[in-house]
Amino acid sequence: MSATPSPVSQPAVLALRPVKLGPFTLEHPFILAPMAGITNSPYRRLMRRMGSALMVSELISANGMEYASQRTLGMLKFHEEERLLGHQIFGDTTENLIRGAQKVEEFGANFVDLNLGCPVPKIVKKGAGAAMCRNPAQLEKVLKAMVESVKIPVTIKIRTGWDDSARNALEVIQAAHQAGITWVAVHGRTRAQGYSGEADWEFIGNLKAKSPLPIIGNGDLSTAERAVERMTTYGVDAVMIGRGALRNPFIFRQAQALWEGRTAPVTTLNDYLELLQSQRETLKGYFSPKLAALHARKFLAWYSAGFPGGSEFRRNVFTLVQEEDLWAEARGFFERSWRTRDFRHLAEPFLMGGHG
Ligand SMILES: Cc1cc2nc3c(=O)[nH]c(=O)nc-3n(C[C@H](O)[C@H](O)[C@H](O)COP(=O)(O)O)c2cc1C
Repeated sequence: MSATPSPVSQPAVLALRPVKLGPFTLEHPFILAPMAGITNSPYRRLMRRMGSALMVSELISANGMEYASQRTLGMLKFHEEERLLGHQIFGDTTENLIRGAQKVEEFGANFVDLNLGCPVPKIVKKGAGAAMCRNPAQLEKVLKAMVESVKIPVTIKIRTGWDDSARNALEVIQAAHQAGITWVAVHGRTRAQGYSGEADWEFIGNLKAKSPLPIIGNGDLSTAERAVERMTTYGVDAVMIGRGALRNPFIFRQAQALWEGRTAPVTTLNDYLELLQSQRETLKGYFSPKLAALHARKFLAWYSAGFPGGSEFRRNVFTLVQEEDLWAEARGFFERSWRTRDFRHLAEPFLMGGHG
């Protein structure tokens, strides 16, 4: 018998390599990044089906939970299919954040994530989001109080720093470690950069080399190849993919395949038809037909980037009111155009604003 592994056994051997993140074992290290107005329950269900290894909700106001706003509490509900799932909260007082974390635990999420990267002026002015990282000593106290208030893991998502002159992410990570935080996701830009420039992966790699905590790298992973390349070059524990998944919902499957030493599966018409069917189904159970159509249009516009006839399709879907017409139009569009996509569009910057 030959000792050389057959080509078929090779991926299986690599696939056995478990990815440990805190107490969780993941199928692979590719995770959908939290995005406000986007990573709601239906989209998380969809992306779980599309292969994201872990889910994080859009940011939820801990202050809102304090006043038990129906909208905020609604955001805490989720479908079992979404697991492993963490809810992300933000807030400006330790008391609200403690209560927020406890509410997340009460609703049954697997972990609670604190948003420490939001650059939006309305939020940082109140001392929440990225502003909390300006004083790591104070932050450590807040984090410790949160960790002590719940049994589930507490995680954080940060930026590299406030601005170029204050890239203090390592200090923040050390404070988080002292406080008992489970992992840190790092978007490789400063608060001052917003979404301009490029994510600094050298900086993320340096943080990983020095960090006592698992590091999830994030920023500008527009293709599966790039996601795998960043994983291997910088040795991070996992990566988060945000906007890249909006234009290419198959990115997680592709990255997993490459990670396991296989060729990335080529996307077929059937993949698109299944995606549309799945998205329709998950939206339907959650939103009114009108709201479902509104959400669907947004996603269809992202999915169609780079396909021939994409701009005409986007114009059309924004005029269609009936949900049924919208999905019929989308099926027709992908049936006509799925074979030829200009992939340069995937790397073009878009959605240059958000909460982290
Ligand atoms: C529309 C939008 C909304 C976002 N909302 C959140 C959020 O609620 N919480 C958060 O931590 N990050 C949020 N982000 C930041 C993303 O999680 C991610 O850090 C950022 O987009 C960079 O990753 P990407 O280049 O893969 O998109 C948002 C980004 C976008 C584009």
